Amino acid sequence: MTTLSLAASYLSDRYFDSYPGEVNTERLVVRRKEQSELLEKPSARVYQDPYEKILERSGDSMSFDGDTVRFGHDGLLDSQQQDALSASLKSLIPWRKGPFHYYGRDIDSEWQSYLKWNRVASRLPDLKNKKICDIGCNNEYYMYRMLSQDPWFILGIDPMVRYYFHHQLNRKFYRDSRINFDLLGVDDMDLFPGFYDVVFFMGIIYHRRNPVQTLNLINESMKSGGTLILESSGIPGNDPYCLFPDGRYMKAPGYWFLPTAAALKNMLARTGFHKIEVFENFKLDVNEQRQTDWAIYESLEHFLDPDDPDKTVEGYPAPVRIYIRAEKR
Ligand SMILES: C[S@@+](CC[C@H](N)C(=O)[O-])C[C@H]1O[C@@H](n2cnc3c(N)ncnc32)[C@H](O)[C@@H]1O
Repeated sequence: MTTLSLAASYLSDRYFDSYPGEVNTERLVVRRKEQSELLEKPSARVYQDPYEKILERSGDSMSFDGDTVRFGHDGLLDSQQQDALSASLKSLIPWRKGPFHYYGRDIDSEWQSYLKWNRVASRLPDLKNKKICDIGCNNEYYMYRMLSQDPWFILGIDPMVRYYFHHQLNRKFYRDSRINFDLLGVDDMDLFPGFYDVVFFMGIIYHRRNPVQTLNLINESMKSGGTLILESSGIPGNDPYCLFPDGRYMKAPGYWFLPTAAALKNMLARTGFHKIEVFENFKLDVNEQRQTDWAIYESLEHFLDPDDPDKTVEGYPAPVRIYIRAEKR
């Protein structure tokens, strides 16, 4: 397959054709054409070359109900296909979310994402027959965990090319029309006006320079009465404040507003949400986010002050994670 045909194959997946009149198709087509150019860049070949050596399969046992998202089991692949799979899995390092299992290989990801999923799952509305968006879906871990509730349609969006290849890799082994992926970002949510019953917006808002504008866009994409699950890094405290770091926070430049739970609640209330409920607010620990063989770069333990784990290396308050459920008015 050439790079060009990869872009063509991305564009040919017109999942939105099932929703004429509900999605802003004209603008979506233009936007997808722009994004398809990312797949033509030489940097995409790092993922593409190993992935193309994997043959499609069907009928193997899958399991998406447990903490580990499992594709197949040991002994099903011949040695050539085992090598192809190993190369593809390695090309996708670092694995941030998981754990996953692929045909005898356990992927221990940086985040123990089942902890987040378990906290969220008990607060979800019934997902049966619902239209769902997972914004910043990463490697689709949560999307697979949603399947057991039999949703109608899940769209995971993430503008990073590597996550398109996670999607494509999973599809080599399991094809399910309910699971869809697009190379879009949260700024594209207005392409789906009043469309979603449930939106997951987890692990992103503190990376946004305009968090209020972002929440407005998400609100526009939801049905009235729809549910938003918002999860964020933040700071401890009862007052409605945000920390705006000077340069880096936890060694990274991409942190803008780190809110208290009270600040997040106010943002939601002022962007068209109500029934706002904070259901978790706790200090993140190194059991949940840590370096592994599949996530070989620095992780939480390297971002905290070794002498005072209540502070980041910059001297700011160490992060808490805040979980909120809210409804669109
Ligand atoms: C910290 S991870 C969170 C992943 C997952 N939602 C979770 O909670 O575990 C942030 C994700 O947002 C994605 N992302 C980056 N820019 C984005 C944007 N403009 N819109 C949506 N997602 C974005 C990243 O590629 C990454 O997968």
